[in-house]
Amino acid sequence: MYWLGLDVGTSGSRALLVDEKGRVHHSYTAAHEEMSMVRPLWAEQHPDDWWRASQEAIKGVLKAARVAGDVVRGIGISGQMHGLVLLDEDNRVVRPALIWCDQRSQKQVDCINATVGSKKVLEYTANPMLTGFTLPKLLWVRDEEPANFERVRKILLPKDYVRFKLTGEYATEVSDASGTGLFDVVRRQWSREMMNACGLDMNILPRAYESSEITGTVTPEIAEATGLRSGTPIVGGGGDQAASAIGNGIVDPGAVSCTLGTSGVVFAYLDKPAYDQLGRVHTFCHAIPGAWHVMGVTQGAGLSLQWFRNRFTPGMEYDDLTAEAISSDRGSQGLFWLPYLMGERTPHLDAAARGAWIGLTARHQRPDLIRAILEGVCYSQRDCLEIIRALGAPVGRVRLSGGGARSLFWHQLFADVFSSPVATLETQEGSAYGAALLALVGTGEYKSAREVCSAAIREVEIKTPSPDAAAYYERAYGIYQSLYPALKQAFRAISQLDE
Ligand code: XUL
Repeated sequence: MYWLGLDVGTSGSRALLVDEKGRVHHSYTAAHEEMSMVRPLWAEQHPDDWWRASQEAIKGVLKAARVAGDVVRGIGISGQMHGLVLLDEDNRVVRPALIWCDQRSQKQVDCINATVGSKKVLEYTANPMLTGFTLPKLLWVRDEEPANFERVRKILLPKDYVRFKLTGEYATEVSDASGTGLFDVVRRQWSREMMNACGLDMNILPRAYESSEITGTVTPEIAEATGLRSGTPIVGGGGDQAASAIGNGIVDPGAVSCTLGTSGVVFAYLDKPAYDQLGRVHTFCHAIPGAWHVMGVTQGAGLSLQWFRNRFTPGMEYDDLTAEAISSDRGSQGLFWLPYLMGERTPHLDAAARGAWIGLTARHQRPDLIRAILEGVCYSQRDCLEIIRALGAPVGRVRLSGGGARSLFWHQLFADVFSSPVATLETQEGSAYGAALLALVGTGEYKSAREVCSAAIREVEIKTPSPDAAAYYERAYGIYQSLYPALKQAFRAISQLDE
């Protein structure tokens, strides 16, 4: 018997199969079309492309395992968070989704803060309003595309659109709902107050479940199309970060992870909600009933490297890029990378922030530019870690996961820049894996996420900081921290230049 985890990410949809012990047997990834960016800092994807890729991934993994869908006992779905999917009365997608890194809605954020009041926003949702969240995106559509807004009958998050296609149910779960700006994170339910304050109809919202609850079953038509068994239960799953945290065993106080995908996220477990007064990290529901988490987000972590590769060394393998970085010196000969390619969340909350190399000289070569990117992403993740520490969340050894964890060099760099031991795990499958583990819980194989994590998750490699390197990076991190404040006004002026 197998359980299927499906992650609807930014660059692709990935399906994997685990057995009753939580061991991964097969996986399959289907790429998405690149996000469309018709203006700087705008980012859209089409939900039907996610659905195409999800079906391909499901069929692909069943084929790779040479099994029929009836061996799948349950499914868990995770996905990129915060995106806005709009459905009309015939369940057609109204317009492409504005996705998590889209930054066009600053005006709407300002308007929410002015009309609802930023204190009330914090009281209703446990977080400040941010351009990344779903609500300001919805209000942007209301303000700028009234004809589209008129047609909206339901809003869904990215993975929940795929769930809708699989089950016909409008459903989400608490961890992903937390990132909408419309969810009462403390009470784990939609915030009627926030909906009312924004003049929105509660009926447009899907039902919110706990993450391991069953939200629906695969319909006969979809069973026919995908090879799954009709009636296969689908549990809530999680926003990609909460799901990935389950896959990394972040289920007890002190547990902290750093996940490097397109974004980079430092995630810490909380047994009660705790907030940063400045809202620089998010306080969201965990995919475990009665638990929360705090997380800091670098918008352009893996994205920084992906951007470099796609623009300047197309087709080059990431391993070869890292090999070049190793050939540069510690500190990249005084070169710093600010990874603000899509504005920044933690710690600046600034949609106008821009990416930059600072410190270029005529001596710099490509390996220095690449190494500076890897180091810059580490500094930016350290910013997240420092705020989480300052909040008083217990911080033990950091567990590294996501694409970046596959590089031993980056792994050591994190240990040095964090000045803390950093572990990688036997199974580095992140969100899709966490979603599959939640399916094991939801179908009754295990009593809780904690139980399945203690059975399935093991640390394999721990890198400790080298004292020399840690001392060097401590000084360099201080310089990194001074760069954004020095450039903040210039970034603002740049963003207004062509308006
Ligand atoms: C989390 C976040 C990203 C996206 C894309 O707040 O925005 O993790 O979900 O991965």
